[in-house]
Amino acid sequence: MPPTIAELLTSKRVLLCVGTGGVGKTTLSAALGIAAARLGRRTLVLTVDPARRLANALGLQAFDEQVQRIAVPRGGAQQPATSLDASMLDVKRTFDRVVTRYARSQQSAQRILGHPFYVQASTALAGSQEYMATERLYECATCGQWDLVILDTPPAEHALDFLDAPRRLIDLFGSPAFRKVIAPSRRLNSGVFRSGSMVMRGLQRFTSVEMFSNLLEFFGDLSETFDGFVQRAEQVQALVTGPDAAFILVSACDPTSSDQAASLGRQLRAQRMLPAAWLVNRVLALDPALDTDPVALTAALAREWRTLGDALGRDVPHLAEHVAQTTAALGRLAAADLAVVQRVRDQASADMAVVPVARRDDEPHDLIGLSAIAQALVAPTQA
Ligand SMILES: Nc1ncnc2c1ncn2[C@@H]1O[C@H](COP(=O)(O)OP(=O)(O)O)[C@@H](O)[C@H]1O
Ligand SMILES: [Mg+2]
Repeated sequence: MPPTIAELLTSKRVLLCVGTGGVGKTTLSAALGIAAARLGRRTLVLTVDPARRLANALGLQAFDEQVQRIAVPRGGAQQPATSLDASMLDVKRTFDRVVTRYARSQQSAQRILGHPFYVQASTALAGSQEYMATERLYECATCGQWDLVILDTPPAEHALDFLDAPRRLIDLFGSPAFRKVIAPSRRLNSGVFRSGSMVMRGLQRFTSVEMFSNLLEFFGDLSETFDGFVQRAEQVQALVTGPDAAFILVSACDPTSSDQAASLGRQLRAQRMLPAAWLVNRVLALDPALDTDPVALTAALAREWRTLGDALGRDVPHLAEHVAQTTAALGRLAAADLAVVQRVRDQASADMAVVPVARRDDEPHDLIGLSAIAQALVAPTQA
């Protein structure tokens, strides 16, 4: 039996929402956070790129990683008041903390942080946003302040870059080639980099020695943090592949998006990461009692409205037909969405919960809208 969303929210320590851009990861992370808070868990939503109005609703300022506490609207009169914490990823500050933690001394940490290359390296290094998201996730999941941390993953071009980041870092920093080149350069003027060496003479041709020495000095200082980085990346990897973590796939309600999510799910499994649930977002949900057959509906409306039509002096059959056509068109859209949900159920493995999330008329950017989604996530109706 697949777990329910409520079970995941109460049993896991970290949940990672993954999916391609624009499918609703940020929105649903916030809604899951509300649902978890209502289930009594001390919850943090670690978000990456909330749309401005959603950020406002969560009390977040741009580039501010300060944790904000939000009062969660009650789900019903019986429910106790509760709160949710939210924070935004600040790549540079997270990187600063990692460097400070692993540098050999306070002075060497200061040298790295103050180096002109540092700002660039910490924010522009390929994968640094992805890596820092997992790093921050680890910090928050292990600090004891929260029972559950929900990570809204960065809008990576390839969603898996993010999951791959710690492993790539281990591969890079741990590789013998990298260690051979970078580690000895800690001692400038030594080995292949001593002044006058062939390597240095070659390099002088296209870069100034000063610039290059600067770069070496920077990487030399930074290299002493590598063991720490690698060790931490391994811990992060252990956390996200372990029993306390689960991945939540998010897709839009269309075949392309669900194929992408299915492929993401397979890649996760291949890396021993558990996709425990699949949220199919923006499903057009119609009242099941609504009769969308245009002929039957036209007849029913014409019957119902006859007196009204007489009173108004209007052509009721015509009006009824018009309404019936519109309703039928909506019915077809809803049927197409249901077919996508069914397709997702076929694509998903048996141990994965498939939960359709209704398309809302207005964008869910305030706590009321998010609360409604939260409610539906823990008490889903069969779609
Ligand atoms: N169930 C929904 N109904 C209506 N609009 C939605 C729903 N879920 C998300 N949206 C809207 O879709 C847009 C993209 O959502 P977002 O959560 O930012 O996606 P992502 O984080 O995956 O890029 C936002 O404008 C959001 O308000
Ligand atoms: Mg987002």
